[in-house]
Formats: sequence, structure tokens, C-alpha cells
Amino acid sequence: MTYHARTRKVAHDDLVWDFGTQTYQVFPYEHYRWCRENDPVHRVDLPNGNVVYMITKYDDIKAAALDHKRFSAAVTDTVGWLMFKDPPEHTTIRSSVQSHLSKKGIDLIDAAIDRINRETFQYLLDGRGGDAATYCQLFPAAVVNHMLGIKIDPQQIDYWIGCSLRAMGQAFGLPGKPEDHKGQADLVAFLEGVVRDYIAHPEDNIGSLLAQNAAPGGKLSVRNVADFMNMLFTGGHETTTFTLSSAIGILGQDPALFRRIKDDRSRIPAFIDETLRYRPVLQSNPRIAAEDITIRGVTIPKGSIVKLCTGSGNMDEDVFENPEEFNIDRPNVSEHLSFSRGVHTCIGAVLARRELSKAMTHLFETVASIQLDADRPVKPHLGGTGNEHGFDSVPVLIEADVVRA
Ligand code: HEM
Repeated sequence: MTYHARTRKVAHDDLVWDFGTQTYQVFPYEHYRWCRENDPVHRVDLPNGNVVYMITKYDDIKAAALDHKRFSAAVTDTVGWLMFKDPPEHTTIRSSVQSHLSKKGIDLIDAAIDRINRETFQYLLDGRGGDAATYCQLFPAAVVNHMLGIKIDPQQIDYWIGCSLRAMGQAFGLPGKPEDHKGQADLVAFLEGVVRDYIAHPEDNIGSLLAQNAAPGGKLSVRNVADFMNMLFTGGHETTTFTLSSAIGILGQDPALFRRIKDDRSRIPAFIDETLRYRPVLQSNPRIAAEDITIRGVTIPKGSIVKLCTGSGNMDEDVFENPEEFNIDRPNVSEHLSFSRGVHTCIGAVLARRELSKAMTHLFETVASIQLDADRPVKPHLGGTGNEHGFDSVPVLIEADVVRA
């Protein structure tokens, strides 16, 4: 279990500098600490021959995220996702779709988010616990399905999402499966069909509104909208899933924190932000240097792959006091980098915050106590793009609140 795990001071050569290892995916914080203390813009020569520059200080990460001209997001075209496009194409797509994910857009599905949350959480109350990861996975996936009006076997979508993530991981040199690219292409083809159907027969959901951008006279192509929907599935699902799994894991091993927030629910937003800071699901955001860039005396040559290491920036001692302490009272609790900054700032942040808020409010209302099940260890998430931090299994024991039971 890695919550509250402290980093040790480790020498450079005692760490394995390979982002493809499971050890790195589960706990990259010692690498980050070494970089921040010794070489904040660190060149890594990976075993597969690729060279990557890790940017690890908060201020440098934020400045790079805001500088989309020098730090291009066009890192891969394996998936046609918005986060891998630069302006002006990025601006055209984002400005066409963002109103549907704004506060006003999400308010329209607020009641559905609430209902889906209660339904998917219920088995944990009924069973006095269980694997909370199932809830963490079902809830955001069902919300995205509802938004897009997708009526298809959730297992099929899960399979396709896995293929998309692994196909992307392969683009960054990670191992995948031979069928990943086909699965990714099948998902896009399926979504193109959905977009065409909505253009021909509009429905009352966000998916249909998005599709109208590709209707005759619209600014986007059918493929643009299908790629955006693909990113909602993948980006909008695993991110919230893993953040929720971290939040429940943290509460499950800290009864005093659980009690404190249960007694004062006004602390829920700070708890959510501190979870986002402490264990960001996207540990880094990739960029390509569009020109030679010098930071802290290190020159990153044009064309190099750069990792903006959010997970490290959120642990920067110069910004967050005692960063390894999980502290919902820190004055700058919401200043983490977990939704990034600049033109690529998470477009789904309003939805993610709404889902996390519904999840936590309901949990604190209905649960009297929660603890990790000592007999069944949590399982960290492994694989995917190798960049996601979270848990595939979080077994908990729950006592339902007597008021509700
Ligand atoms: C806790 C949950 C979430 C976290 C931590 C998160 C994090 C991020 C981050 C860090 C980025 C920027 C990547 C970069 O700069 O390269 C991003 C972009 C994006 N996110 Fe999220 N996300 C979350 C939830 C969601 C949800 C729920 C959706 C939609 C349903 C979503 C859709 C997107 C999209 C489409 C982009 C690309 C935006 C652009 O490039 O303009 N995310 N997200």
C-alpha cells in the first residue's frame, strides 16, 4: 500500500531509470525526489534507446504547460485525441465542444450523476464492503455512457478502452498486445457510426449535441467528433476511476480523517483536492520541444520528448509544505497541477469534480466506518500507458450508517 509511503533519499544509480517498469509506475516518487534535489531537468536515456527529459519542479512544469508554442502536445498521432493536438486545430475542436462540459452543461446531467452514483455504490453498503474498485470503475463509466447516450455492452467498451490506452502506451515504447491497434480502430469506427446516427436522428443527450458539430456546415469532421468521444471514454473514465480509488484507499486507512470529514462535510472539497495533489492519476503530461529550450542551465534539444512530471510538481517542497503529508488543511490545497494548466487544462474537470463530490458526499452520508480489508491486499494499477496511478482492487470493510441502513 503506498498511501503515506515516504520517499527515501536514493542515489541516482540505485534507481532504475525505465518508465516501463512496474516499480516506477507504482511508486515514481523517489525518482522525482532525486530529480528535484539533484537535477530538476533530468535527461533519461531509456533502455529502448529513447531519450526523455523529465521536468520536475512545480514552477517549470506550470510554465511549460502554459507555453504551448515551445512545448508542443503533438507527441503521437496513434490516437487522435485533443490532448495531442496543437493550435489552431486544437482551438477549433476545443471551442466547438467545451460548452457541453462547462458547469452549465454538467448541471443538466446533475440528477443523473447523482442517481448513477447511488446505484453503483449500493452493493458496498449492502455487502458491508467489498472491492471498492468495482464501484470506482462502474460509476464514471456509466456517467460517460449516459452523457454520450451509448447503448452497448460496457465490457466491449472496456475492452476498447484498454486497447486505446495500450496502443498509446506502445507509441511511448511500452509493451502492448498485437490486437491493441485493431481494438483502437474498431472503437473509432463504432464512434463514427454513433456520430453519423446522431446527425441523422438527433437525441436529447450530450453525445448528440457534440455530433451536430459535424453536421453539414459544422466546423468539425465526423472523425474529429468520434476522436473526442473516444477521449471522453478513455480520459473521462479511468482518470476519475483511479482518483476515486485513491480517495477511498486513503479514507480506508485513516479512520481519524474519515471521522473528521464525516463530522464536518464542508471539508470534502479540500479532501478531494488533496487527493488529486497527493496521487495524481496522470503522473505526467508529455510534450515535444518545438525548439531548443534551456531551463535551469539544461538545454533540451528541439524534437526531444519532455515529461511534465505533475506527480513531482505536486510534491515540490518549495510550493507545498511537508508535501509527503496528506493534509486537507494546507492553505494552497487546490494549487496542484493535476488538471494541468494552459490550453490543454482538463476540459472534463467540472465533470470530474462533480462526480468526486457526489461520490464523497454520499459516502460520508451513508457510511459509518470504512477500513481496508486486511485479508485482501489492494492491487495497484499496472500497464495501460504506464503513466496512470491508481488501484485495480481496493477491498474495504464498511459499516453502513444506522440512519440509512
Ligand atoms: C480526476 C479526473 C481527471 C483528471 C485528474 C484529469 C486530468 C487531465 C489532465 C492533466 C489533462 C491535460 C493533459 C495535458 O496537459 O497533456 C486533461 C485533459 C483532458 N481531459 Fe481530463 N482529467 C480528469 C477527468 C476528465 C473527465 C471526466 C473528462 C471528460 C469526460 C476528461 C477529458 C479530458 C480531455 C478531453 C482532455 C484534453 C483537453 C485538451 O487537450 O484541450 N478528463 N485531463
